[in-house]
Amino acid sequence: MVDYWKDFGPFHGRIWLDSASEGPLPRIAAERAAEAITWKVSPHLMTADLFGRIPRRLRHVLGRLIGAPEEQVILGNSATFGIHLLANGLPLRPGDEILLVRGDFPSDILPWLALEKTGVKIRFLEAKGTLPDGDDLKENLTPSTRLFCTSWVHSFSGTAADPLSLGKICASHRVLFVLNASHALGTRPLDVTEAGVDALTCVGYKWLCGPYGTGFCWIRPEVLDTLQYNHAYWQALLPRDYLLKEDEDLTPRGDVGARMYDVFGTANFLNFHPWTASLEYLLGIGIDRIEEHDQHLVDRLLAGLNRSLYEPLSPEAGRGRSALVVISHRDPKRNEEIHRILQREGIDIAFRRGRLRISPHLHNSESDIDRLLEVMNALHF
Ligand SMILES: Cc1ncc(COP(=O)(O)O)c(C=O)c1O
Repeated sequence: MVDYWKDFGPFHGRIWLDSASEGPLPRIAAERAAEAITWKVSPHLMTADLFGRIPRRLRHVLGRLIGAPEEQVILGNSATFGIHLLANGLPLRPGDEILLVRGDFPSDILPWLALEKTGVKIRFLEAKGTLPDGDDLKENLTPSTRLFCTSWVHSFSGTAADPLSLGKICASHRVLFVLNASHALGTRPLDVTEAGVDALTCVGYKWLCGPYGTGFCWIRPEVLDTLQYNHAYWQALLPRDYLLKEDEDLTPRGDVGARMYDVFGTANFLNFHPWTASLEYLLGIGIDRIEEHDQHLVDRLLAGLNRSLYEPLSPEAGRGRSALVVISHRDPKRNEEIHRILQREGIDIAFRRGRLRISPHLHNSESDIDRLLEVMNALHF
């Protein structure tokens, strides 16, 4: 295994196995964050050029990550940002139906729920697993369904959906397909032009190792053109030399495109400068290789788990398996206590919906997994 862990930390002796909550910032990105602080400490360094360069570079690298032209990337601050944009901007009419997944993460649900007061119907699909397969989706589409929104990887069960098959079904029923890729991007490759999605939203601070308060979305241009959303930011809409001009010409630039929906305060130096470094670092390694690394650690964890004590609840094989391993003690009432014991031992995992969630990423090594297994497998209550 490559020692990627050397590019992270220090972790002060602790083992961080919860990238599904917060991915750690690589050292190179921490250096960029420090650089961005120096700009603000000495504002003469915060040049007009930087205001353009910071978002431009981030947009470029995000475009590379998803295989989209950079001018189609919308910079945000969360996963919710993109869903919110769609929920508030799509021309939905009373009687139109939005199909959501029961038990999905609230970012995928709350922005749509508010549409009920406009007469839009919200329906919940009850999947046979935690996320729907093609059959679940087909059974739940009705002639009124306009849009289907789901997580790619489910936060609480670690199950990965198959966006390709879901996307094909949506396309054949003329249903818009919105995918929250927050637990997939950075752990598996994606080419958005082949994935069959109409819109994709993602956080930056988990598997993409950015600071908290980062995210982005991509919306298929034909769908973007239908948005009716008042999101008027002077820095996006007006020519770059606006402040230098004598006249007060508020005519928007002609070349704004998707950028007009960027989060306000787009030259977000302290967050976007280090996030760009994280993304360049991840892309430098290659997402295929990161997937191999993460899945090797998942293999090791699943192989070493004492099955008489613990039951894996997330898929153990196939494309339904992700980098989120969700397990339970055979006596689920013990899970909370196990989480506490691990924390005392310097090992941080997540306790979600009564289960244990372990999510290793690039900064973890085999020895992190071995130490986790050593503590967990020794717990005989
Ligand atoms: C699938 C998923 N989407 C989104 C989020 C976070 O959402 P936001 O960035 O909108 O706060 C999480 C957080 O755990 C998540 O699991």
